[in-house]
Amino acid sequence: MTESRTPHYESSHRLRRLRHKPGMRALVRETALTADDFIYPMFVCDGENQKVEISSMPGQHRFSLDLFEEEVGKLAESGVRSILLFGVPDHKDEKASSAFDEEGLVQKAIRISKEIAPQLVCVSDICLCEFTSHGHCGLIENGDVLNDESLELLANMAVSHARAGADLVAPSAMMDFQIEAIRNGLDSNGFREIPIMAYSAKFSSGFYGPFREAANSAPQFGDRKSYQMDPMNTREAMREIACDVEQGADIIMVKPALSYMDIVRKARDEFNLPVAVYNVSGEYAMIKAAAQNGWIDERSVALEMLGSFKRAGADIIISYYTPEVINWIK
Ligand code: PBG
Repeated sequence: MTESRTPHYESSHRLRRLRHKPGMRALVRETALTADDFIYPMFVCDGENQKVEISSMPGQHRFSLDLFEEEVGKLAESGVRSILLFGVPDHKDEKASSAFDEEGLVQKAIRISKEIAPQLVCVSDICLCEFTSHGHCGLIENGDVLNDESLELLANMAVSHARAGADLVAPSAMMDFQIEAIRNGLDSNGFREIPIMAYSAKFSSGFYGPFREAANSAPQFGDRKSYQMDPMNTREAMREIACDVEQGADIIMVKPALSYMDIVRKARDEFNLPVAVYNVSGEYAMIKAAAQNGWIDERSVALEMLGSFKRAGADIIISYYTPEVINWIK
């Protein structure tokens, strides 16, 4: 006869008790996504009546300004709270002249956005790569990306965006001292109140592939490894963030998101500024592609991914999924 076993199932360890009913699960859920968390990246291009789908990013488009105007109105109405603007101009040159042109594409888009939906937070990307003929994020001399010489252009670009009405500027060029240069530029032009969201820990990543198609910004020679970070480095990411904080960043960012959640957690634990993550184009494209093949359930995978960014410590999520998520979580 087998001896009856004394239960060693401790009553307090019955974790399933809180999982049986949806209402109970909701009550004890530790992390939640809200519309306030999201920033939606958008691409504007020259021309008229253009809404061109980006083939590697299904569901994402480049809009000419007339159609951008319509789209911004719809997005704001549907509950999107913030957008991040990228310009894809026809005209590019060595010096990225259209990047800081008061009548440039992004400057115009900012003005439209603020006119159509003043309550929508309008964030602008500050980087030269979409405006340079060589596709690098700074000026080039003898095949090298110049650091200090590029700073003034980045500062001018930020000032021109602020002048157009941008609520927040987001430098992504990964030039050393770019935050200081932009802060000084903004302050000396009367924009002390405009905050900076620094792409502080921006890694040199294969996950940016689809974006470069979207923004037509792939480097024409070489790569971005001399300015973007080596994906294998954690301590260096903390140094990058510390430098940006010292120079006056208001929000820090980790980019990409999915393969860098350890960095997000560490940033959250070591710094007291709001932490943003950029859920980049390749991360979006992977889910879209698998979903289109019927291999995964898009909604549950996307929500799981985005929720995990918050769980890792992110306060702000920049994602191409923004309009869809806001719809899903309504
Ligand atoms: C510009 C910039 C890039 C992204 C955002 N800003 C591309 C790059 O650095 O090559 C990538 C965004 C994405 O992949 O969704 N420097």
